[in-house]
Amino acid sequence: YFANAKIGGTSAIKIKVLQPFILYCTRFALSLHPKHKIQNKMAQEDVFKKIVSHCKEYGFVFPSSDIYDGLAAVYDYGQNGVELKNNIKQYWWQSMVLLHENIVGIDSAIFMHPTIWKASGHVDAFNDPLIDNRDSKKRYRADVLIEDQIAKYEEKIEKEVAKARKRFGDAFDEEKFRATNPRVIEHQQKRDALHERYTEAMNKMDLNELKQIILDEEIVCPISGTRNWTDVRQFNLMFKTEVGSTADGASTIYLRPETAQGIFVNYLNVQKTGRMKIPFGIAQIGKAFRNEIVARQFIFRMREFEQMEMQFFVKPGTEMDWFKTWKKTRLAWHEALGFGDECYRYHDHEKLAHYANAATDIEFKMPFGFKEVEGIHSRTNFDLSQHAKFSGRKIEYFDPEENRSYTPYVIETSIGVDRMFLSVMCHSYTEEKLENGETRVVLKLPAALAPVKLAIMPLVKKDGLPEKAHEIMNELKFHFNCKYEEKDSIGKRYRRMDAIGTPYCITIDHDTLNDNCVTLRNRDTMEQTRVAISDLRSLIEDKVSITSLLKKIQ
Ligand code: GAP
Repeated sequence: YFANAKIGGTSAIKIKVLQPFILYCTRFALSLHPKHKIQNKMAQEDVFKKIVSHCKEYGFVFPSSDIYDGLAAVYDYGQNGVELKNNIKQYWWQSMVLLHENIVGIDSAIFMHPTIWKASGHVDAFNDPLIDNRDSKKRYRADVLIEDQIAKYEEKIEKEVAKARKRFGDAFDEEKFRATNPRVIEHQQKRDALHERYTEAMNKMDLNELKQIILDEEIVCPISGTRNWTDVRQFNLMFKTEVGSTADGASTIYLRPETAQGIFVNYLNVQKTGRMKIPFGIAQIGKAFRNEIVARQFIFRMREFEQMEMQFFVKPGTEMDWFKTWKKTRLAWHEALGFGDECYRYHDHEKLAHYANAATDIEFKMPFGFKEVEGIHSRTNFDLSQHAKFSGRKIEYFDPEENRSYTPYVIETSIGVDRMFLSVMCHSYTEEKLENGETRVVLKLPAALAPVKLAIMPLVKKDGLPEKAHEIMNELKFHFNCKYEEKDSIGKRYRRMDAIGTPYCITIDHDTLNDNCVTLRNRDTMEQTRVAISDLRSLIEDKVSITSLLKKIQ
């Protein structure tokens, strides 16, 4: 308003001079306004929408069954997506199996004996409590509605603290303020009482109490705004199907909801045939299926997804040390990608599953907040003991050093490939203003994960340049993923490569035919240098290989 208004008596020229300053002040004032927070949130939502459409436009991720209008929470990976996904998997697999002498991999079947899921507790306890709003007909997870309410109290406390911090400046004593401010105390008491009531209800899986909490807290449906709730019901997340050719002889089996059980039931096979000595690990990458009630945020929560899990078998009593070691090791794996330490945080679990004695999540800063990408759990000897009980087999380890047998304890690291993919995409998507005023969209992917490492471009489609380009391609394609590109202007080709995150492009021009040199262009700096064709492999290979990442974590 001030930027455009005439200030009494001030000449037009003065306004022109003052305008940038006034604009700056206005922006600053707006940034302090509570609305700014909402705008920020909106901006993040917009960024996320752009990432989702970029994924589709550039062949990374498509909705499943797209020509039939899609299937909720199921996605397909396109020509670039599959390369990126494979690179993520390769980075994980090699960090586990190549870098650790005592970790081996397996690939177990998706279909497993149904008793496995009874033993693991999934048949009885892999449930979400769900509730419907009768007016909007929308279905929610009752626990999520209550957790959101707890988060609201926490937000109110943080707002009070932030306000006071600003008011008192350096003299602010946060601890004292939290302990004495009446509003903070009131919110804290409400939050704690709710948290306690909720934890107890969840521990007992008291569905009536969960509903009563929702009513007492006056939680409304975000769509209809009403409190017209149904009762809370249990909903098992496993997909069922039938195995067997006739209806009579068929038996119910499940699509595995985690890959981990395939490792547990192969513990004896691998330990014996691999003559593995404790401590040792078994790694696996594979599909998992969950009938998620609330499937949202693109590939963050899917019904069919992929996990990379490693079970590390240790001597009882040493599990806490191993738990700490794996927490550090896994964070280092994430950080080696170079996104910055501020993108990650641990979230230690307060409420532990009945079989766990420690658990933490590695969370990544997504556009919609810090979210779990990986879980690290100390699972005691629960799974192996349960399988011993249900199968009637002795599942133990004879420790030659201690001259005794025991059921090993397990530290599990479990990461979702798709969530990892999403975190990489979110961090890499960049819109950059160029000097000429244009905007370029560039995926600043870690070079080792990029789908294409080198684009090979003849300047024109004639004069022997395509032939020369193919000659280079035929040499380099054995060492890293190359893409031949001859359509459109060089500028357009660079933009296309930026959009899929290709770290290097080379241009073959008429001089190349005489001097055997090409122009090498760097995606991030856009710098162009003239290099000899014979040097290309050594200049590029090291920087784009998975080995370059592995060396950072070794
Ligand atoms: N075996 C342990 C286990 O499955 P989890 O926390 O349920 O633990 C591990 O899952 C990881 O699998 C999560 O950190 C997440 O990255 C991924 N994941 C779980 N459910 C998912 C879903 N519906 N869609 C995509 N990824 C999922």
